[in-house]
Amino acid sequence: MKAIVCEKRGTMKLEEIEQPAVPDDGVLVRVHASSVNPVDLFPLSVAGRLMRKLARKPTRDVMGTDFAGTVQSVGKDVTRFRPGDEVFGGEHGSFAEYICLSESEALALKPSNVSFEQAGCVAVAALTALQAIRDHGQVKPGQKVLINGASGGVGTFAVQIARALGAEVTAVCSPRNADAVRSLGAQRVIDYTREDFTQSGERYDTLIDIAGNRSLSACRRVLQPGAIFVLVGAAAVQHTSEMKAFGHFIGTRLRSIRGTQKSVFFIAKLTQKDIEAIAELMAAGKVTTAIDRRYMLDQLAEAFAYFNEGHARGKIALEPVRPEPANAAAGAPRERATV
Ligand SMILES: NC(=O)c1ccc[n+]([C@@H]2O[C@H](COP(=O)([O-])OP(=O)(O)OC[C@H]3O[C@@H](n4cnc5c(N)ncnc54)[C@H](OP(=O)(O)O)[C@@H]3O)[C@@H](O)[C@H]2O)c1
Repeated sequence: MKAIVCEKRGTMKLEEIEQPAVPDDGVLVRVHASSVNPVDLFPLSVAGRLMRKLARKPTRDVMGTDFAGTVQSVGKDVTRFRPGDEVFGGEHGSFAEYICLSESEALALKPSNVSFEQAGCVAVAALTALQAIRDHGQVKPGQKVLINGASGGVGTFAVQIARALGAEVTAVCSPRNADAVRSLGAQRVIDYTREDFTQSGERYDTLIDIAGNRSLSACRRVLQPGAIFVLVGAAAVQHTSEMKAFGHFIGTRLRSIRGTQKSVFFIAKLTQKDIEAIAELMAAGKVTTAIDRRYMLDQLAEAFAYFNEGHARGKIALEPVRPEPANAAAGAPRERATV
């Protein structure tokens, strides 16, 4: 099968590799769609390569996490899925024609009102948003939530999930994305090019910080006593400097020792329970995927380059590369393979 592999030196390559074997509890999924997340860039970084070496993991590795597709075959102990089921989920190794994972991992039936492309963009961003709002932010109906960095992959899901939980949502983004986040349910939008949300005079019960470009001390000005500050990422700085983003996480952790407001930083977990919770929200029409751009898997370098600009409006979808059928008629030629 065709797959994008990360090689020893931290470069990526489209290669022909063996299809994964299916263990007794395994589900083999033919991937129809996937998408780009910051975590997918990690194996290419110096830190990612070092960690693989320390963990003694194979030096060549299939990249990608999000996927949606059709179950091709299942192991003999599998009870939740059968061949032909339309599914979606998140697991390492999704930038390939096939992915194999245990049925107990983050895998759910795709709701029929959701396309493969939409479902293939869900796992990392939506589960991060869900865990930030519901678990770490402990958002309750009627509470005021501010989402800084509301228009990207995680942000567009966070706005919808906060609304689905009954919160009153204020979204911070650039003016070009204001209408998009409003259409996803944000009741108020702050244009960060014209207004500093930390000076707004409003008070929030929860602040979900995805952009990560303001200090905790500045954010405290708009937090109620007893409010929760959830640091998800540093999108606004990460796209320019990983070290700066790392410094921001440490700084926030140190500053959170003082003060009445709770501050949390977390790493999202891909779980079966939460992918099913998102499937329910999508089936009920409460959450949808906002897709900005689409790329073929062999244009991954372009997809990452656009993602690294840091201003995607929602998700960047990926379509797999299929082998040309032997008797294919001369159709439109594929433009280029750039990976
Ligand atoms: N903790 C976890 O487990 C976890 C999981 C997934 C992701 N993350 C982190 O979360 C962050 C976001 O990921 P993502 O996939 O959503 O990235 P993304 O799709 O690239 O989103 C970036 C968003 O940041 C916004 N932004 C840029 N500058 C801004 C500013 N000055 N103020 C407010 N918003 C600004 C952009 O909006 P405009 O275009 O409107 O400027 C863009 O929509 C990353 O740092 C990522 O590493 C953490």
